[in-house]
Amino acid sequence: MPSQAKIYVAGHRGMVGSAIVRQLQAMPAATIVTRSHSELDLTNQAAVQAFFASEKPTQVYLAAAKVGGIHANNTYPADFIYQNLMMQANVIEAAFKNGVQKLLFLGSSCIYPRLAAQPMTESALLTGPLEPTNEPYAIAKIAGIKLCESYNRQYGASHGIDYRSVMPTNLYGPGDNYHPQNSHVIPALIRRFHEAKASNAPTVTIWGSGTPKREFLYVDDMAAASVFVMNLPKAVYDQHTAPMLSHINVGYGSDITIAELAQAVSQATGYQGNIDFDPSQPDGSPRKLMDSTRLNALGWQAQVNLEQGLALAYQDFLDCHVVCGASQ
Ligand SMILES: NC(=O)c1ccc[n+]([C@@H]2O[C@H](COP(=O)([O-])OP(=O)(O)OC[C@H]3O[C@@H](n4cnc5c(N)ncnc54)[C@H](OP(=O)(O)O)[C@@H]3O)[C@@H](O)[C@H]2O)c1
Repeated sequence: MPSQAKIYVAGHRGMVGSAIVRQLQAMPAATIVTRSHSELDLTNQAAVQAFFASEKPTQVYLAAAKVGGIHANNTYPADFIYQNLMMQANVIEAAFKNGVQKLLFLGSSCIYPRLAAQPMTESALLTGPLEPTNEPYAIAKIAGIKLCESYNRQYGASHGIDYRSVMPTNLYGPGDNYHPQNSHVIPALIRRFHEAKASNAPTVTIWGSGTPKREFLYVDDMAAASVFVMNLPKAVYDQHTAPMLSHINVGYGSDITIAELAQAVSQATGYQGNIDFDPSQPDGSPRKLMDSTRLNALGWQAQVNLEQGLALAYQDFLDCHVVCGASQ
């Protein structure tokens, strides 16, 4: 990282953006620039241009996005595609216009086809239909990758720009959303087992058969991988990617069943009761695992195992959602 780096982290109050800020703060010689959503609406092109023109960051981590579960994606598809397209287009164009040479865009595993072979390699992109429930969001994320690639292809040589993309697997950890109805599986289970422990409930019933397999990465590992990919020498990045297939998967490297996950969360929370499954509820895809060979070949591996990560995540839940009395 150049010693004079001035780094803008877009979405610094989110789970991933805040982890990236934590990661960068541990490194010397970087000035970090942030704006909350209320200070700078990234869908507002003029405001984004003005921000870049006045702050002149030298690097950008684009971790701002409109993010949500199946219900939100199904209910607000226009918001998901419009806001994400606008944020990405505004930030990437303003970055380019204001001389930012290094930018990292964060996408998602939902960019891959619904029936992609498992584990999902980067080359599965655009090889088949997407999962319909989050297709608008996924299309926006694919557009984000293609924005980075297109700016590189058109302006890489003439302006020295180098815009990269990473595609995280399912993430969890500090800053997660623990909303009872609208959260991902790990924060939802943390809340349920915590509440079951508090009320001495004899049994916790988990939706579905418990057999689907999923992959989970602790968010600070994701932040470390983001900084790692951002700072790879260009020749190394180019050697492992292609101009029109440039994104890099970021996964833990192995998956577990939902039943195993439930067991691990119950242990992390100290719940002593039984775990039941309700197979009449939908399971979703049998398996979703990223192929992280590309990232591993570059020299990066996840450091935080599930047991360690769940202990840290449960402490975060206790600190911020029980002690502080927050409702979500
Ligand atoms: N969480 C996961 O499991 C996961 C998995 C794979 C990929 N990712 C990717 O990682 C990225 C970050 O996700 P996250 O989990 O950190 O999401 P998050 O916690 O919801 O954070 C997103 C951040 O973006 C901000 N934001 C949204 N709309 C904005 C706007 N119009 N202008 C300015 N800021 C805006 C939000 O601010 P407000 O809250 O104030 O709106 C929030 O701080 C996303 O691209 C997501 O696709 C996440």
